[in-house]
Amino acid sequence: MILSPSLFAADAGRLDEEIAQVEQAGAEYLHIDVMDGMFVPNLSFGPNILSGIRRKSRLFFDVHLMIEKPERFLEPFIREGADGVTVHYEATDALDEIAGICRERGVKFGVALHPRTPVSVIEPWTDVLDILLVMSIEPGFGGQAFMPEAVPRIREAKALRERKNARYLISVDGGVNPETAALCREAGADVLVAGSSVFRAQDRKAALELLRR
Ligand code: DX5
Ligand code: ZN
Repeated sequence: MILSPSLFAADAGRLDEEIAQVEQAGAEYLHIDVMDGMFVPNLSFGPNILSGIRRKSRLFFDVHLMIEKPERFLEPFIREGADGVTVHYEATDALDEIAGICRERGVKFGVALHPRTPVSVIEPWTDVLDILLVMSIEPGFGGQAFMPEAVPRIREAKALRERKNARYLISVDGGVNPETAALCREAGADVLVAGSSVFRAQDRKAALELLRR
């Protein structure tokens, strides 16, 4: 299981220490939420923050773009250190172009699905997709409860991968804690994104171990 602590839940006054802690605790990815106040009613990190933290960490930077027309900002996020870029299916008509840029630049290409978007919409891109992000909350805020409807959607993503002979990782984002992590794992998730359950815990190592178990 790949664990991707979500930086949005970290103490923003000491991001580098927070990142170092989860890196030392054995996280594989760092999930970085980007919000534009349009696609979601909130704001968060931009490319300048990415560039700052890139110098402090070797983690895989798993950048989740919750922004309208993400193709406008792909280049700065790649340049400043993204290892994977995940865009929302609902926010763009340019998935082919985005997939092409990611391939050219050697960055993983991810697509996120809002909880109400059918999993089947991704079928035309399964052969170029590296990460399928199944949202288990309404995007925009951390600390929300996991939507149980996500579990059959993870299963569907896995069945689709088998049927299409694809190789994308299935990632789950929102309300992931030790209990819901177990449901995600059983359903076939490969990557767990977790904000509050990691950064609100005193002992980050213990928190990651509980998610992995
Ligand atoms: C919400 C973000 C999530 C969020 C998860 O829009 O995409 O990554 O930070 O936070 P928790 O784990 O607290 O639900
Ligand atoms: Zn996210």
